[in-house]
Formats: sequence, structure tokens, C-alpha cells
Amino acid sequence: MIEQAQPNDDPMSSVETLRPMAARARRIPGEGALETLSRALDMEARGIDIIHLEIGEPDFPTPTHIVQAGVDAIRAGRTRYGPAPGIWELREAIADHLAASRGVRVSPERIIVTPGGKPVIFMTVLALVEKGDEVIIPDPGFPAYEATVRFAGGTPVSLPLRGETGFQVNIDALKERITRRTKLLILNSPGNPTGSIIRAAELEAIAELALQHNLWLLSDEIYSQLYYDEPPKSIAAIPEMAERTILLDGFSKSYAMTGWRLGYGAFPKPLVEPVTNIAINNYSCTPLFAQDAGIAALRGPQDCVAAMREAYRVRRNLVVERLNAMPGVSCTMPAGAFYALPDVSALGTANVRTFTNHLLENGVAVLPGVDFGRHGEGYMRISFATAQDKLREGLRRIEAAVETLHRSNQTT
Ligand SMILES: Cc1ncc(COP(=O)(O)O)c(C=O)c1O
Repeated sequence: MIEQAQPNDDPMSSVETLRPMAARARRIPGEGALETLSRALDMEARGIDIIHLEIGEPDFPTPTHIVQAGVDAIRAGRTRYGPAPGIWELREAIADHLAASRGVRVSPERIIVTPGGKPVIFMTVLALVEKGDEVIIPDPGFPAYEATVRFAGGTPVSLPLRGETGFQVNIDALKERITRRTKLLILNSPGNPTGSIIRAAELEAIAELALQHNLWLLSDEIYSQLYYDEPPKSIAAIPEMAERTILLDGFSKSYAMTGWRLGYGAFPKPLVEPVTNIAINNYSCTPLFAQDAGIAALRGPQDCVAAMREAYRVRRNLVVERLNAMPGVSCTMPAGAFYALPDVSALGTANVRTFTNHLLENGVAVLPGVDFGRHGEGYMRISFATAQDKLREGLRRIEAAVETLHRSNQTT
């Protein structure tokens, strides 16, 4: 006879005897940006004035015509479940957008609409990576790449991006890192936190390596419309590459729609069904009203995107100029996205995290470069998706801290 478990009066004793969690639950970290944000918000709640330069979120409201489409959709009852890969009309609009903006030709069947761009990273890695597989990731790079690869049991292999080369992909360094076990290479252009855009020549060389070594590619193009000179090119537009590339993009950054949770992936044919099934078992579908707003974003007027881009350009110029005028600080000009990544190693702090903690105590939240990988040491990331008056005040606080440090370095 099976003995019945006795009810336990003490809730703590049963917690102690719980069976252990899966090892993978301890292999997945949070995200530095969100941790710093919550510390900054705690300080604000205690009445301390903080300038937020840590989070990669447009300060602009979602453009009115997009909001209107979302509101109309909610009123019209578009509040039910929808098809797992997204509604056809939006998938068509996305396919047209990819062709017009980047010359990437994929049929709408290959587009999967997702709640934000992040699930494309998660589902791609879960669908492709298993124990023993190596995945080459940009370093410094978006933290979710390393986190998801580890979670899936794979091994992340850092591809260092160096400030001296404008954080470009070094093809020789990439070749050295490709082994028999390399399954996937992740690219991010325009890049977070580097702001760099991968040049056409490098994309061609990467494509050649992908063919030669039979690699999958994940091309994260979430900042595709935030560029300040030439528009970025997509590796998926190079012949034969769309068959092995998962192209990630979305609405969060380009259309100031972070909280709508709307993104998408263009997947190679064999991945469409398994990734749709992962989506079904995870989040079922993306809200219909957010998708209707996405159609308005892509099919509606684009002057809002151009206006935001121009505002970011002015802020970028201001930030880079002010940073380069600070002693011990040097900053390359980002070609895209809305981040500056100044090299502050000459300030002589033990590590940059100590300095960014000090900045937070002095009312300005920025991120240490190591939040983006070990090759980020020596840098700090400043988001300029913030209104100019706030940016100026944030820069003034950084300047004051830098100058104090510089003076104390000179006297010791
Ligand atoms: C490089 C990169 N990829 C993907 C994302 C995720 O975007 P979303 O908010 O749409 O999930 C971000 C957001 O910060 C990002 O910086």
C-alpha cells in the first residue's frame, strides 16, 4: 500500500526537502540593464534624482496613428487568441518591408510574428543548439545570446569586437574560432552595445565562411532603421544566405513600441514548423491588437521613423563630442542604434563597474561594458534614447565624476 504523505505544519521544512531544480535554471542569468534600472528606480523611490542612461528604450511615445490602430483593434474585439505564427496580413507587410528596406526576399510563410524580438533569439537557440554545440557570439554583445546558449546546454564562443577597429567583425579572428562543433554564428548590426554596422565586405566574407563550414546564422537586425549614414545591409540578402539565416527584427526600437511586445523572425523553411511549435507550447500567439498596430506601423507613413532617427543623430553627436572632451575618455562615433560605448580604461579605476556604481550614487545610471561580455571591460554603455536636456545633465554629472577622478589620479 502506498503511504499517504502527512501534512506538514511547518512550511519551511517542506521547502528544505524539495527536490533540486534543473541545473539549467541556475545557468540562466538576468540582464545587467534591468538590474541597474531596478537599483536606479529604488533610489528614485527614496527621493534621489537619477538621469537614466542605462536602458535601451526610446523616450518617444509610439506614433499616434499606430496607437490609434491598436486602440481601434481592442475596441473591435481583437482581444482573442490568434494564429501562432501571426496574422497573414502582418506577415505579408513584413515580407514587403524586408524586400524594400534590405533586399531580403522571403515569402510570408517564413515569417513568424513574436511578442518582441527576444523570443526569436530564444526559440532559434532552442531549436538549433544542443550540448556540445558551439555558438559564436559578438563580445561585447547583447547578453541574451550568451544566456540562451548556456541555457540550451551549448558553449558560447566570444568573438571579440575591438574599439580600435570601430567594433567591426575581424574575419581572421572569426576563422580562428570556427571548429567542427560550431553550429551557429550570431551577428548584430547595427550592434548593441557597440553601435557599429557590419560593412558589406565583412558580410560577404562571413557568408563565404558560413557556406564553407555549413553554419546557421542568426542576424539580429532589431536596430535596422536606426542608422546615421548608409542603411545597414542584411546578410540574408546575399545569395544562398536566406536558406541558413534567421533574420530577427521588430517594432520595439524603430517604432518606439517596446511595451507592445511585437517582433518577428524570418526563418529558413525547415525551422518554421518546429519554431511555431515551440511558440505554441510557450506563449501560444502574439496579441492580435498589437499585430494590427504593427500593420499600421509598416504600411503607414514612415516620417515618424525618420524624425526619431534625426533626433537620435543630434543626441549622438552631442554625447560623442562631450565624452571625447573629457580627460581619459575616448569614444568612437556609433553608426547606428542609440548607444555610445566610450573607452574609459585610461581613467584608471580598478574596474569600470566600480566607476558606474559611483556614477549611480552621483545621480546618473549607465552600464559597465562587462555587462555585455568580458571584452566589454574598460568601456561603459550610455544610451542616448533620452531627451536632450536630460542627456546634457547626465553628461554634466559624468563629467564631474571623471574630472574628480582625473585630478585624484594626477595627485597620486
Ligand atoms: C540587440 C538586441 N536584440 C534584441 C532585443 C530585444 O528586443 P525586444 O524588446 O523587441 O524583445 C534588444 C533589446 O534591447 C536588443 O538590443
